[in-house]
Amino acid sequence: MDTPLTLHVDGRAHALTVDTRTTLLDALRDRLGVTAPKKGCDHGQCGACTVLCDGRRILTCLPLAVAHDGARITTAAGLAADGELHPMQQAFLDHDGFQCGFCTPGQICSAIGMIEEFKAGDPSSVTPGLRAPAELTDAEISERMSGNLCRCGAYQNIRAAVKQVTAQ
Ligand code: FES
Ligand code: FES
Repeated sequence: MDTPLTLHVDGRAHALTVDTRTTLLDALRDRLGVTAPKKGCDHGQCGACTVLCDGRRILTCLPLAVAHDGARITTAAGLAADGELHPMQQAFLDHDGFQCGFCTPGQICSAIGMIEEFKAGDPSSVTPGLRAPAELTDAEISERMSGNLCRCGAYQNIRAAVKQVTAQ
């Protein structure tokens, strides 16, 4: 069954009609030509498809597009503003937080969403208490970013990039 919906992607509204079985990732990539979110596993396991949806990080390969009718989606390609890179993009450049770059759009969106979760006091599974600790330690960053895999193994530099942004 086809269903009409509207997706706001990187500041642009798109009206489209999709088969109700279409994932959000396929709607973005195959229907709208938005290729910043990558299809790595297509099974919710690698994080390459991560975007920010209404300010929160989400995977796009699992949810159906119709479940996000009206959502405001920001991909890594939509983070720069007024010709300036987002601080997280700049930090990834400063610290070589990538090699092949395939995971990078998802890593950057996830890192931005993760910092907001941390600021909101959300604990992780390595947090000793029920509230986020004062500092985003290596262990906290690793755990909170564990949904984003990097086959090139750039984790050390990704952590450094995240730390640079949290220190700002
Ligand atoms: Fe979505 Fe791997 S492509 S988690
Ligand atoms: Fe290659 Fe992460 S930079 S998979």
